[in-house]
Amino acid sequence: MTLRSGGRPPGSPARRVAVIGAGYVGLPTAATLAHFGHTVVLAEREPARLDALRSGRMPIVEVGLDDLVAEGVATGSLSFTGSAVEAVRGAEFVFLCVATPQRSDGSADLSFVEAAAKEIATHLEPGAVVVNKSTVPVGSATMVEQVIGRPDVSVVSNPEFLREGTAVVDSLKPDRIVVGADDAAAAAEVAGLFGATGAPLIVTDATTSETIKYASNAFLATKLSFVNALAGLCEEVGADARDVLLGLGYDKRIGFEFLKPGPGWGGSCLPKDTRALLHIARQAGYEFSLLAGAIASNDEQLARVVSKVEEACGGSVDGATLGVWGLTFKANTDDRRDSPSLQIARHLVALGARVQAFDPTVEPQPDPPEDLADLGLCPDPYEAAAKARALVVLTEWDEFRWLDFSRVFSLMARPAIVDARNLLDPSAVRRMGFRYAGIGRQ
Ligand code: UGA
Repeated sequence: MTLRSGGRPPGSPARRVAVIGAGYVGLPTAATLAHFGHTVVLAEREPARLDALRSGRMPIVEVGLDDLVAEGVATGSLSFTGSAVEAVRGAEFVFLCVATPQRSDGSADLSFVEAAAKEIATHLEPGAVVVNKSTVPVGSATMVEQVIGRPDVSVVSNPEFLREGTAVVDSLKPDRIVVGADDAAAAAEVAGLFGATGAPLIVTDATTSETIKYASNAFLATKLSFVNALAGLCEEVGADARDVLLGLGYDKRIGFEFLKPGPGWGGSCLPKDTRALLHIARQAGYEFSLLAGAIASNDEQLARVVSKVEEACGGSVDGATLGVWGLTFKANTDDRRDSPSLQIARHLVALGARVQAFDPTVEPQPDPPEDLADLGLCPDPYEAAAKARALVVLTEWDEFRWLDFSRVFSLMARPAIVDARNLLDPSAVRRMGFRYAGIGRQ
């Protein structure tokens, strides 16, 4: 990726920024702010991650991130430290980008946010602004304010909307910037950091800003649940979901984005945030049944894909060898958190199948991580297809489309494909002799 050199709009000053947490949000945020000309210190307390960054290796797979980080380091705008306390020294703005995992009841676990706030509280510069970038429940800005307990420090909500895999582009060219705070001056200062994006700006109170974040992800999830359910209906009535969705997408009010049926939505955000919003609603005494329905519909979609595989194997996968292509929750990332692909693969194992899986980001290893323990990991897609009774395409890696399908055909015990991403051309693979089942199409 070629980077246009960044820079601030004329007249806007370079600010000193600390970012706490070099994960999927913190790292692109830090690199982007450095690209905009601010001086950024990124704190990461996990030594392996910090070492990787210091030696120019990216701890996450993200297109263009290595170039953006290298640019920041070369210009001196971006540096790394293992200590949050050190990072906030001299910083006018401190972005909290730590994890907010899900608790068993669906609510967000704020312990990392709270711990980070506590750690930096007494070390913040007078008048510093703390920015909540992590996805946090409504009311969290107030919680952070209380933890910090300093009248001179303002807390501002500034949710991120970047997608994994396209985080750099999404950070450099966001659809909008949302800033929420009770202190209007602090909100305006935070908004100013992103002036170079030229994005529409929404300045509001913290509660509204926090709600916008959850509402966005909940809406996207609901849209996909609708699309997947519609694809199921298309199969029943004999319509072609791809054409139906094309017909929908041309309506500008609906649009083409987020309209691809698949194995169900997943990842580290949509499942967590929909459940958290449901929890928030219930606590407020509001029954958000539409959202509960979208979540239930997503579970049905996973089950529907499993049934398709059973059907492709003649009714049961018990004892069958299955090839699986794709384990990450979507293509162009190495993230398997809450991945529908992985959930389906493991479900098939639980039903008695022997799963041979290939994913471009997963290397076969003698001692695989826990989430991969039940699966046979293959070094290439052909090995995953060898002697399989069905091949299941679960993640939409583009490279799968360009494989030698006559070789795949000759390797398989039974040439059946379940394409949960509608990635392949059904007539082309059928002509080769495969039995093919996609999503929402014949
Ligand atoms: C999502 C949101 O899209 C971001 O705006 C948000 O900032 C982010 O969560 C977050 O809260 O941090 P992300 O989790 O990276 O981003 O993934 P998406 O691209 O939204 O995909 C989510 C799931 O929907 C994946 O499982 C994907 O395969 C699925 N999907 C997406 C489809 O099945 N069909 C589509 O057309 C689009």
